[in-house]
Amino acid sequence: MYEWDSSLETGNDVIDSHHKELIAAINNITEAHRQGKGRDEIAKTMDFVSDYTVMHFTAEEKLMVQYNFPEFSVHKRYHDEFKETMKNLTRRLINEVSIDDYISLVIFTLGDRLFSHIKGEDFRMAAFIKSRVNEPFPKTEVLEKLQITEKC
Ligand SMILES: [Fe+2]
Repeated sequence: MYEWDSSLETGNDVIDSHHKELIAAINNITEAHRQGKGRDEIAKTMDFVSDYTVMHFTAEEKLMVQYNFPEFSVHKRYHDEFKETMKNLTRRLINEVSIDDYISLVIFTLGDRLFSHIKGEDFRMAAFIKSRVNEPFPKTEVLEKLQITEKC
């Protein structure tokens, strides 16, 4: 089980609340396994993790664009790779390998990677946003070009 603690706090309330939710969702997968729930239940929990991660990455990417974060493309590439990994943790795979192997794969490819991503790329992004937060908000027409209509 993963525990959220202050060493994971980026200082951005939206991002931090998403990270807490994501860690809880990953824990739900291992918890479902511990309780002996079947493949179907684990697959459903994995679907939630997957959907939530996509929503969270989109929110981070909007913030990065909004604040003109210079490391945007590197950060986005990481998100894209992470989403690609998640796609490979498919329902078919759950049925092909043992549940134990599947859970180890989830922990290794999602849980552990997520923690190092939070402490690395996400910390740098949140610090940058914090340093910019009092600067004027980008012009509406610029945001419209990027299809961002409201402040996240
Ligand atoms: Fe991120």
